[in-house]
Amino acid sequence: MQHTYTAIAKVLHWGMALLIIGLLSLGFVMTGLPLSPEKLQYYAWHKWAGVSLFLLVWLRLAWRLFNPPPPYSESMSALLRRLAHLGHAMLYGLMIVIPLSGWLLSSAKGVQTVWFGVLPLPDLLQKDKEMGNLLHEVHEALNFALLLLLLGHVAAALKHHWVDRDDILKRMLPQGHARLEDTP
Ligand code: HEM
Ligand code: HEM
Repeated sequence: MQHTYTAIAKVLHWGMALLIIGLLSLGFVMTGLPLSPEKLQYYAWHKWAGVSLFLLVWLRLAWRLFNPPPPYSESMSALLRRLAHLGHAMLYGLMIVIPLSGWLLSSAKGVQTVWFGVLPLPDLLQKDKEMGNLLHEVHEALNFALLLLLLGHVAAALKHHWVDRDDILKRMLPQGHARLEDTP
């Protein structure tokens, strides 16, 4: 039985965490800028990165299917374990629906997504201004939900590390691994 996340799972976790923090920051900053060539360039970068994240999450889920995460220690209550699973499932769900809502909103606003300026993605909806504005609000609301969930996620990780003093954070760190006595 493996007692730590695989190197690939760690690279995907931390790489995608950085990408998401970049996407959130760029998203909130770019929408507040006045119309300019720079603003349009930032929108394009945002969309390329968002589509890349959408591809990476499927890769990550496929890897997880064949390399399940290490089990939790019996010392963690059943309720907390269930909450952790639910939180992670919601994070994965948001990593799928947020890019999809972005792709839909771009389609409805009539701005096709051309991945890295090379691969044109099909528009998922016909141009419709009202729908575009509505989907923008959906995209924004989902991003606030992600922000809240991330705050809880980070707080939980730090509580495990500093208050419970267990190995939950360590097993996701580059050199980290769990103590064998902490696992069932
Ligand atoms: C996990 C991936 C993504 C995250 C975290 C993310 C995050 C954000 C955030 C925080 C905003 C600002 C919302 C606001 O306050 O108005 C935004 C706006 C936007 N996002 Fe994303 N996004 C992601 C993926 C995508 C994708 C894949 C696309 C398109 C292919 C996209 C297209 C857009 C567009 C066009 C806007 C601006 C909407 C407007 O000004 O009308 N996003 N995004
Ligand atoms: C910013 C974007 C982040 C996202 C989207 C994210 C998402 C996730 C997901 C989906 C998992 C579950 C992995 C699995 O079992 O397949 C996970 C695990 C984990 N994350 Fe994050 N994470 C992020 C940032 C962070 C940060 C900043 C920390 C550290 C403070 C952190 C600490 C952890 C730890 C310790 C685990 C392992 C938890 C366990 O074994 O139950 N994450 N993360």
